[in-house]
Amino acid sequence: MMKRPLAIALTIAISLVLAACSKSEAPAAEGEPHKAGHQHIDAYDGDAARGALIAVDKKLSTTGQACVDCHGAGGAKPIDPTYPVLAGQYQDYLFHTIQQYRDGGRDHALMAVQIKGAAEAGKLDDQGIADLAAYFASQAGPLGDLHNR
Ligand code: HEC
Repeated sequence: MMKRPLAIALTIAISLVLAACSKSEAPAAEGEPHKAGHQHIDAYDGDAARGALIAVDKKLSTTGQACVDCHGAGGAKPIDPTYPVLAGQYQDYLFHTIQQYRDGGRDHALMAVQIKGAAEAGKLDDQGIADLAAYFASQAGPLGDLHNR
């Protein structure tokens, strides 16, 4: 038989642990700084028509190539089978992964330079990234989810 004070102490300890575990982090509200320090822009604020123009702009990056020169028209048919399809990809995924190339969270010799050069030259801000994400997400492509939708 457990002594009463010990039982009470145990009960308190267990409830404290449970309370700590059930705490979840609140998502960043619109307009609030995101974890990485940049403003959180809802990917759905992107303008697909504007994104379509940015996607074909050869003067955007320092290499003289437009997004579609590697990812194919509409991001649907990359020039190399190892380059990713962007057409129909989730908009918020595109938005955040392009930000990652810019901010250094994701690196790739061919790809990061495209975004970094454009951002450093002041030609691609968060709104431009949102526009690109909206454009590529709106394009029909071969990507599907686990239910192939
Ligand atoms: C020189 C060729 C080239 C150009 C130009 C290029 N990309 Fe890429 N892109 C790549 C390659 C290669 C990868 C794969 C990199 C990796 O594995 O991280 C990639 C990856 C990506 C991804 C990640 C896709 C995923 O499924 O995770 C996005 C998003 C993307 N590119 C968007 C763009 C945008 C927007 C532009 C124009 C501003 C652009 N790319 C221009 C070659 C290119």
